[in-house]
Amino acid sequence: TGSAMAEERPLAMVTCTAPVNIAVIKYWGKRDNDLILPINSSLSVTLHQDQLKTTTTAAASRDFTEDRLWLNGEEADVGHPRLQACLREVRRLARKRRGGGTEDAAPLNLSYKIHIATRNNFPTAAGLASSAAGYACLVSALARLYGAEGELSEVARRGSGSACRSMLGGFVRWQRGERPDGRDSLAHQVAPETHWPELRVLVLVVSGEKKPVGSTAGMQSSVDTSPLLKHRAEVVVPERLELMMRHIRERDFEGFGRLTMQDSNQFHATCLDTFPPIFYLNDLSRRIIALAHRFNAHHGGTKVAYTFDAGPNAVIFTLADTVAEFVEVVRRSFPPAANGDQFVRGLPVGSAELSEELLAAVVPEPVPGGVQYILHTQPGPGPQFVSDPDQHLLGADGLPRPCA
Ligand code: DP6
Repeated sequence: TGSAMAEERPLAMVTCTAPVNIAVIKYWGKRDNDLILPINSSLSVTLHQDQLKTTTTAAASRDFTEDRLWLNGEEADVGHPRLQACLREVRRLARKRRGGGTEDAAPLNLSYKIHIATRNNFPTAAGLASSAAGYACLVSALARLYGAEGELSEVARRGSGSACRSMLGGFVRWQRGERPDGRDSLAHQVAPETHWPELRVLVLVVSGEKKPVGSTAGMQSSVDTSPLLKHRAEVVVPERLELMMRHIRERDFEGFGRLTMQDSNQFHATCLDTFPPIFYLNDLSRRIIALAHRFNAHHGGTKVAYTFDAGPNAVIFTLADTVAEFVEVVRRSFPPAANGDQFVRGLPVGSAELSEELLAAVVPEPVPGGVQYILHTQPGPGPQFVSDPDQHLLGADGLPRPCA
């Protein structure tokens, strides 16, 4: 498909995939809205792209008359300031590199118009961090297209703060930095995805509803009104970051899980401390929190840890040997309404028998349909370049392919 034309290069095309990440020390609040500079450092786990990923194809051609963008097949506005910032920054890096003397065989003309198509392999409405994967993917694809090299996490950050952490796999720290120009506000890998092979992630999708207040507006309101957020950024997070790094280094699930839950809870406390208050957790979220604590109490230690972002879905961290039992506990607590076979998705989950004591101690009055489905995944690598041309989301004419 189009390979015969590849030699001539009338159309340069690149496809990349990028992961979602979930923070265990949360980013909430900016000190610079335009550059997207955070008030505190944060730390996240990159999730595996076999279960959750964004794919983006970027193409440039002399024949394109305007920049165009398609999101999940629908044409969207390319004029979005954050998207434009990413484009500008990638082009700047490309120009810098070329100026530096390392000449490409056939450098792509930076003034050509571009077409971008992007697609998620998970429902955007599920409230999973699609903007992080989306901007990480966009920046990876554009950088490859233009042959830009340099600190790409800084560019992805201009799209969405949390996107800079999706530029790396495994365990990632986004350093807040000190400089007003943001040159030191970058993501670094703390440990690769292979560091903790037993670590597993369960995404409990409780609601397909869109969040009432987006992260960008929500955190601005928190910065403006919450004294707790100020204390968190200045005092709590610096201490927690060091502690979390140690728990990860030592693969100490007890410590990692406990601190993950505490930090999620403090983030949601800052939302309540915002005036007027913001509520991201709903009744189902709170039932899952209570369930996790009963499960841990029954086992006499931290076996599962929840975390919630700007929405009601729970992300559970656990170890491989606990997955089957906890999934069964969730199934009993929130019996699937219909197609129960689709209830667990992603990595396979074994079956588990629950003891009578565990049922009595942990499983509450069931809430049918409370959890729509569970996605089982694990830590994974950063953005990937896709070499198979069949995977391109744009055809040889530069327009979205019907299948894609
Ligand atoms: C609650 O990165 O979506 O998920 O920088 O304004 O685009 P912008 O916000 P965004 O915020 C994510 C906030 C969070 C916590 C986190 O991921 O650290």
